[in-house]
Amino acid sequence: MSRDSFGSRFGALVAMAGSAVGLGNLWRFPYLVGENGGAAFIIVYIILSFLICLPIFISEFVVGRRSQKNAYAAFRDLSGGSAWRWVGLFTIIVPLIVLSYYSVIGGWSIEYLLKSITFSFTGGESQSAMNTMFSDFVTSTWGPLAVHTGFLLATTLIVVFGIKGGIEKFSKVMMPLLFVIVLGIAIYSLTLPGAQKGVEYLFNPDFSKIDAKACAAALGQAFFSLSLGFGTIMTYASYVDKKENIMFQSTATAVSDLMFALIAGVAIMPAVFAFGLNPQSGPGLVFETLPFVFGQMPAGGFVAILFFAALLVAALTSSISMLEVAVAYLVEEKKFSRAAACTVLFVVCWIVGTLCSLSFGPLSHIKIDGGNLFDFFDNLSSNILMTLGSLLTVLFVGWRLKKTDVYDEFTNGGTLSRNAKLFGVLWFLIRYVCPLAIISIFISGLL
Ligand code: PFF
Repeated sequence: MSRDSFGSRFGALVAMAGSAVGLGNLWRFPYLVGENGGAAFIIVYIILSFLICLPIFISEFVVGRRSQKNAYAAFRDLSGGSAWRWVGLFTIIVPLIVLSYYSVIGGWSIEYLLKSITFSFTGGESQSAMNTMFSDFVTSTWGPLAVHTGFLLATTLIVVFGIKGGIEKFSKVMMPLLFVIVLGIAIYSLTLPGAQKGVEYLFNPDFSKIDAKACAAALGQAFFSLSLGFGTIMTYASYVDKKENIMFQSTATAVSDLMFALIAGVAIMPAVFAFGLNPQSGPGLVFETLPFVFGQMPAGGFVAILFFAALLVAALTSSISMLEVAVAYLVEEKKFSRAAACTVLFVVCWIVGTLCSLSFGPLSHIKIDGGNLFDFFDNLSSNILMTLGSLLTVLFVGWRLKKTDVYDEFTNGGTLSRNAKLFGVLWFLIRYVCPLAIISIFISGLL
């Protein structure tokens, strides 16, 4: 049976952008920018994205497309069957961990979409009522479990239909829709009286805030946002046609991801400031502050529906990419049918996700390193495993693969002359700059 693949350039692009654009863009980036020096942070973020993350992205792309295999087989075959294959397996397991807790938050966005459809935020509730609404919900047992199950089921159902018939089809419809919704909310948000303060919060440059911690935060965010170190880009790249231009596809994904993050910032912060609130990060921002804002603003009930629909779509286009990494492995290496692979992985992620979900309520007494199970999985995967995965991938491409093979893949056999010209710089970045930058920023972020 021939291997599934993306049916078009646009399809591959929106699927990759879909993986990249997710909760990270909507709830972390805007806050990180505001807290770490506004435009100064954006500049650092852009430099790190293109100098370090883009070469890592391209490295993953090269490994995936060269091998046209799942992440495990890609590392195994390209290294001539060496122990590097365990790195491949590592990059398959990490997204499963992320998917498990990502699905809990995906579930919350279903719950909040339902709440907004029933106009639960309108009526001038106080901020503390919104806080209570959120904490009552997440600390309960069955509600969060039901929506976590629903989210994971939706993810699995899309992936079961394959690359062309499931992932590509879904992304092709949803990504443009997501863009229109977020852009629409951004424009609306800018028209609110007092929006200016939010724009200043995001874009006023304060270079005094740029220190090692801010750089580490920028790099960590860029990794997470571009889905690096997870085997995801590698797996999607393995379905990309050999004629496509790796440089173009990678840059286009990175630029879309950045644009989404900036537009999300403009959608959220001006509205938050217009109502005299202080921004927070993560769940507090989208599930506590924003519902209050929606309750206050004109037509807020409608904006709330659009916002939570966008959050759900952004989460789904990311979660399907996480699941596909392990599905590809089970189908190709363990000869599972696609449906069987999806079912087994659904069960695994459901169990881990259930523990994460319950860790806000009935299991909140279980603490690891001061946090609950959810925090533990989040910190472990997004701070440590992801960085390690990215580091190992660039070391593999820069030091284990043959330079001529990387050149061949990057330039489509020497036919892309612009890529051929860029190759020298790219090779230097992959071999020296990326590993050193990852190590030094990671260490300095710990200090
Ligand atoms: N890039 C996604 C976000 O910004 O929310 C998160 C993500 C997707 C992480 C896919 C890892 C992954 F494999």
